[in-house]
Amino acid sequence: MFFSKLAFALSTFIGLAAIQGSYGQPTGAVAAVAAVPPAPPGLSFLYSLNCTLGTQIPVGTGPRGTRIVIPIVGGTFQGPKLKGKILNLGADWALSSTSTSGAESTVNVDTRYQLVTDDGANIFIQTRGMLPSQTRGNRSTKSSS
Ligand SMILES: *[C@@H]1O[C@H](CO)[C@@H](O)[C@H](O)[C@H]1NC(C)=O
Ligand SMILES: *[C@@H]1O[C@H](CO)[C@@H](O)[C@H](O)[C@H]1NC(C)=O
Repeated sequence: MFFSKLAFALSTFIGLAAIQGSYGQPTGAVAAVAAVPPAPPGLSFLYSLNCTLGTQIPVGTGPRGTRIVIPIVGGTFQGPKLKGKILNLGADWALSSTSTSGAESTVNVDTRYQLVTDDGANIFIQTRGMLPSQTRGNRSTKSSS
């Protein structure tokens, strides 16, 4: 097991941006939407987390890349307004692909996991996104820093 703080903090910010974007749209007539552009979505810090990961499950390589499942088995999260634990029932169904030269690789994260706050609220998290292009052979260094 190891920690992957950066990858999951990044995923959380992507999830937050998606939530704010979907609720920021005006609900009036189409003409009003065109006349008044919506405010750009913003980001506010929600929490950081330390995530404990289980042993990777190799799924195999297909036309879109190589899939591995990384179990999310525990951890903690904390921010200005909420804190709690990560439950042992999630995973990242990560898909990695390598450039034709073999020099660069990208990783698409695809997570589903479950938080429970200290005051008992259950929060389902689903995130998708791409980690920056990485030099082959150095993935664990960059994703765990
Ligand atoms: C994550 O781990 C770091 C280093 O041990 C610690 O300083 C931080 O408080 C932890 N954060 C959470 C949310 O557990
Ligand atoms: C891996 O990352 C470390 C730290 O950023 C760097 O010093 C090292 O040169 C990298 N190795 C490769 C093979 O890119």
